[in-house]
Order: sequence, then structure tokens, then C-alpha cells
Amino acid sequence: MEATTKGITLCLIVVALLINVAVASDTYTNHTVGGDAGWFFNSTTNTTSADYKAWATNQTFGLGDFLIFNTNTNQTVIQTFNQTTYGSCTIDDSLDTDTFQYDGVSNQNGDAVTIPVPLTIEGTQYYFSAAEDGEQCQQGMAFQINVTHGLGLPPSLNQPPPPPYVQPPGPADEGQSPPVAVATNAPNRGMRTGPSFRWLVLVLLVLLSYLE
Ligand SMILES: *[C@@H]1O[C@H](CO)[C@@H](O)[C@H](O)[C@H]1NC(C)=O
Ligand SMILES: *[C@@H]1O[C@H](CO)[C@@H](O)[C@H](O)[C@H]1NC(C)=O
Ligand SMILES: *[C@@H]1O[C@H](CO)[C@@H](O)[C@H](O)[C@H]1NC(C)=O
Ligand SMILES: *[C@@H]1O[C@H](CO)[C@@H](O)[C@H](O)[C@H]1NC(C)=O
Ligand SMILES: *[C@@H]1O[C@H](CO)[C@@H](O)[C@H](O)[C@H]1NC(C)=O
Ligand SMILES: *[C@@H]1O[C@H](CO)[C@@H](O)[C@H](O)[C@H]1NC(C)=O
Ligand SMILES: *[C@@H]1O[C@H](CO)[C@@H](O)[C@H](O)[C@H]1NC(C)=O
Repeated sequence: MEATTKGITLCLIVVALLINVAVASDTYTNHTVGGDAGWFFNSTTNTTSADYKAWATNQTFGLGDFLIFNTNTNQTVIQTFNQTTYGSCTIDDSLDTDTFQYDGVSNQNGDAVTIPVPLTIEGTQYYFSAAEDGEQCQQGMAFQINVTHGLGLPPSLNQPPPPPYVQPPGPADEGQSPPVAVATNAPNRGMRTGPSFRWLVLVLLVLLSYLE
């Protein structure tokens, strides 16, 4: 009886530890761009609210993570896979296939917005603000990140894209749709907690045999 109680207690402790390990190592991260300073440009002083390149080099980005841009409509969020477009600080000559605008046209009203950008493609990608004719970008509203495979795409982002949206006749088109889940070379792991889960089953089996 006492041995059983001890066994169950031990078992519960081990399970709790394993769950902790699984949560710590197997979750996706939301990276708030610029940290508390957000994604802002002060056009009076021509300064950015954070050093975005330094911020980016201090993070590890994986598939399924999000970049969270806390900003306002004085800035834009451009994602590009084209280094030339990044270097040019403008989307005027960019291709629809490698460059995406996330917030429509900058309206210069300064309304607060939060723009979540899912990381769905491995490799190097670039972000900048194209507002004020590229001035913001030239003054530092620009950074590059490298996205690793990490945990792989979660099912929520690994869906085939929906059928194309047909714009009803009406006033100006605001930007274009962001890229949705392009299948990557490596298959998505069925269960994210795979290795930990296998350990858990193993430990449970050992404990059960010890209890008998
Ligand atoms: C990360 O951001 C996405 C998009 O806003 C949101 O759906 C998700 O719940 C966030 N995850 C965490 C852990 O905050
Ligand atoms: C820009 O900086 C100036 C000088 O520091 C400050 O007075 C102003 O409030 C700032 N503007 C914004 C929008 O933060
Ligand atoms: C900011 O940049 C604009 C445009 O380049 C320039 O006219 C202005 O003098 C600059 N202001 C400061 C404080 O550097
Ligand atoms: C990088 O991260 C470390 C630890 O979190 C922090 O102390 C440091 O200030 C960060 N550096 C930059 C440039 O954000
Ligand atoms: C990058 O974009 C430029 C236009 O900004 C285009 O001329 C060039 O072909 C693109 N590069 C690639 C590799 O698609
Ligand atoms: C947005 O930009 C306009 C024009 O440069 C400026 O007058 C205003 O203070 C800015 N608002 C915010 C919240 O940064
Ligand atoms: C991204 O990877 C490229 C090529 O591996 C490397 O040159 C660059 O420094 C990396 N950039 C960052 C921000 O880690």
C-alpha cells in the first residue's frame, strides 16, 4: 500500500517534469519586433524607436513563430524574400511573388495597429517600412532574419491556401494577401511533443512494472 502511494507520487512528479520540458522546448514563439519600443519612426528627429538589426540578431526564429509588429499607420510592414527589393527600400519595382505588404497603404493618421506576421518559409527574409518614400527604411526601419526549421509548421499554418479572393468592383485595392503556408521540403512532425511523449510512455511503463 505504502509502496503504491510512493510509486504514484513519484510517477506524478516525473509526469509533471516531462510536461514542463515539453512546454519549454516545444512551443512556438511570438517575437515582438523592437521589444517594448515597437515598430516606430519619428519623422521629426528621423530616428527609429529601436535598433531593429541588433534586435533581430539577438533572436532565434523558427517556422510557425510570429513576428508581432506593434506600430501605427505612419509605418508600413513589408516582407520580402528579394535582397534587391530590401536594399532599394521601395516596393515600386517589386514582384508580387516575393514581396508582400501587410497593412495596406500607410494612411499617415497614426492609428495604432498590431500586425502579426507568421513565419511560414525557411531561410533568409527581410522586413522594412516603405513609408515616406523609403526614408524610414534608409534611417533603420529595416532588418533581416533567418528562419530555421525549428518545430516545423503547425497544422494551423500548414493548410492549402483558400481560393483566391475576388475583389468586388469598388475603390482602390489595399495591398495584397500575405503568403499562406507553402509546403516545405521537410514533412511536418505529426506530434510536436514526439520525443518527450515517447519518454513519458517509457517511464510510465517502467513505473507500472515497478508497482506490480
Ligand atoms: C502569437 O500570435 C498569434 C497571432 O496574433 C496568436 O494567434 C497566438 O495566440 C500568439 N501566441 C502566443 C503564445 O501569444
Ligand atoms: C518625435 O520626437 C520629438 C523630439 O524628441 C518629440 O517631441 C515628439 O513627440 C516625437 N514624436 C512622436 C510621434 O513620438
Ligand atoms: C529628416 O529627414 C528629412 C528628409 O530627408 C530632412 O528634410 C530633415 O532635415 C531631417 N531632420 C533631421 C532632424 O535630421
Ligand atoms: C540580447 O539579449 C540579451 C539577453 O536577453 C540582452 O541582455 C541584450 O541586451 C540583448 N541585446 C540586444 C541588442 O537586444
Ligand atoms: C528582385 O526584385 C527585382 C525588382 O526589385 C527584380 O528585378 C529581380 O528579378 C528580383 N530577383 C529575383 C531573384 O527574383
Ligand atoms: C504620423 O505622421 C504624421 C506626419 O508625419 C505626424 O504629424 C504624426 O505626429 C505622426 N503620428 C504618430 C502617432 O506618430
Ligand atoms: C543569415 O544567414 C546568412 C547566411 O547564412 C548570414 O550571412 C547572415 O549573417 C545571417 N543573418 C542573421 C541576421 O542571422
